[in-house]
Amino acid sequence: MIMPRYDAFVTRRIPDAALDILRQVASVRVWPDDDVPPPPAALRREAAAADALLCLLTDQVDGDLLDAAPRLAVVANMAVGYDNVDVAAATSRGVPVTNTPGVLTETTADLAFALILAAARRVAEGDALVRAGGWRSWGPMLLLGQDVHGAALGIVGMGRIGRAVAARGRGFSMRILYADEERRPGVEAELGAQYCSLQELLRRSDFVSVHVPLTAATRGLIGAAELALMKPTAILVNSARGPIVDEAALVAALRAGRPGGAALDVMEREPVGPGHPLLSAPGVLLTPHIGSASVATRTLMATMAAQNVAAVLAGARPPNLVNPEAWERRRRPGGA
Ligand code: GLV
Repeated sequence: MIMPRYDAFVTRRIPDAALDILRQVASVRVWPDDDVPPPPAALRREAAAADALLCLLTDQVDGDLLDAAPRLAVVANMAVGYDNVDVAAATSRGVPVTNTPGVLTETTADLAFALILAAARRVAEGDALVRAGGWRSWGPMLLLGQDVHGAALGIVGMGRIGRAVAARGRGFSMRILYADEERRPGVEAELGAQYCSLQELLRRSDFVSVHVPLTAATRGLIGAAELALMKPTAILVNSARGPIVDEAALVAALRAGRPGGAALDVMEREPVGPGHPLLSAPGVLLTPHIGSASVATRTLMATMAAQNVAAVLAGARPPNLVNPEAWERRRRPGGA
């Protein structure tokens, strides 16, 4: 049997289909703990011996780690967002970084819309009430919520996922507003979406759904001043990245009654522990960063990340390269 020349480290167990792709090109080590990511020192130690790193949004990849891993020839993030990777540091060291765009669009939009429906119609509160034995009778005033159909849906960031959420909104006869760096005539024509400033969107929307990537420009994009513009009945939905919303400002705003609720799949620091202020703020629905968590989509994401690794180890440009500038002066696997 010919032993693969390369070594790949995978920072958590991923679907077998992806591991099979990796095993054809490298000997593969997988971090054994399903629930807890490798702590920074362990990640550094494992990466130090690797030609390829298949990592997750829970792993911080920075210049120090890359310096400690001189053979590392590719960082394949199993996510569309890659704010956990210092891309500038990777580029300056000639390390290609890849992500998994496209395959999770519809699945993440499903979750964002599930949050809209669940928060509007108080689904989690209803479930808790029934389980606690608190359901005494059908009640004309029991758990009254907001209508989703016919309401105004504000999309912050009309990229792939924003557009897929807007399309779902159209299916519910919602009016679509969007704020973005640029106008999107295609979406305006297809979904009747109306372009407006972020401030106007916040003032007019019944549901505000966030779909921008986390960058220096979007960190804290929704802060106290923005929240104060929302309607007292409006619901803020975030399935993008936690730090886009200023969480302390959100808790204060919810306590003050504007907006009326928030449904969050992402938080500033994940996981949130017991006693976190969001847990006791009124009108909050929380899920544990499961936007792309369907069997089919996680398999596609993992195989896509593995294919990116396999391409680099075979000397080919990976299909989902996020820093093309790194490619010309890339490190070679095996430290060559
Ligand atoms: C998930 O949050 C992703 O960025 O893919």
